[in-house]
Amino acid sequence: MPKIIAANWKMYKTRAEARETAAALARLLTEKRTDRQVIVYPPFTAIAEAAAALDGLACAAVGAQDVYPAAEGAFTGEISPRMLTDAGATWVLTGHSERRHVLQESDELVGRKTAFALANGLCVMLCIGETLKERESGCLREVLQRQLQAGLAEVAPGDISRLAIAYEPVWAIGTGKVAGPDEAREAHGITRELLRDVLGAAAASVPLLYGGSVKPDNAAGLLALDNVDGLLVGGASLEAESFAKIVLA
Ligand code: PGA
Repeated sequence: MPKIIAANWKMYKTRAEARETAAALARLLTEKRTDRQVIVYPPFTAIAEAAAALDGLACAAVGAQDVYPAAEGAFTGEISPRMLTDAGATWVLTGHSERRHVLQESDELVGRKTAFALANGLCVMLCIGETLKERESGCLREVLQRQLQAGLAEVAPGDISRLAIAYEPVWAIGTGKVAGPDEAREAHGITRELLRDVLGAAAASVPLLYGGSVKPDNAAGLLALDNVDGLLVGGASLEAESFAKIVLA
């Protein structure tokens, strides 16, 4: 399967800034032969701008950073799958560590979001990962198991082909501390194994991305590891030049 390189722009960029970065990315990647799939997750307000700017780049898609699990209704401040699709998004992130830890999202809510977005035609990148405290107390497997079981509890078998998992150790996000090859290899191996328990044989074709302080100079090494099918990039995706280097790493 083609490696997936995804850009999480978090709460950065106005519409004009998003348009400029996406257009620069399209320029940098056009005519570069790459079999990589590129996904850009701008803030909600810039999804349509980014989608328009990346329209000519066949390998690129645009996604949203969150979604609410209802078609419509009295959910002030929330956004539905249909609204995201209408804006030009084909992907959505669920369970990003900042939503789990800053916005206090429960495993159960992440599971409802994942299943609902998939059932409504979006591709979903479910994020999982342990905190430093959890890792140091030897709970890595337990945490990943809990997040995968709850995150995938309601997913219909027919939707698994539109699912990806991003393993992002919380202690490596935005900290400059990347998981070493041994740590990443171990966590991805465990994740693949746990996925098999939850999804059965279909788990083999679900892409597993690594995220957490990915930079142009560590991207190739991470992509070479077993069970690393792509990268989810935060800080280093905000500039087109550095993200393009990661796409081409
Ligand atoms: P980072 O963020 O690359 O800045 O560590 C990754 C993420 O939060 O998805």
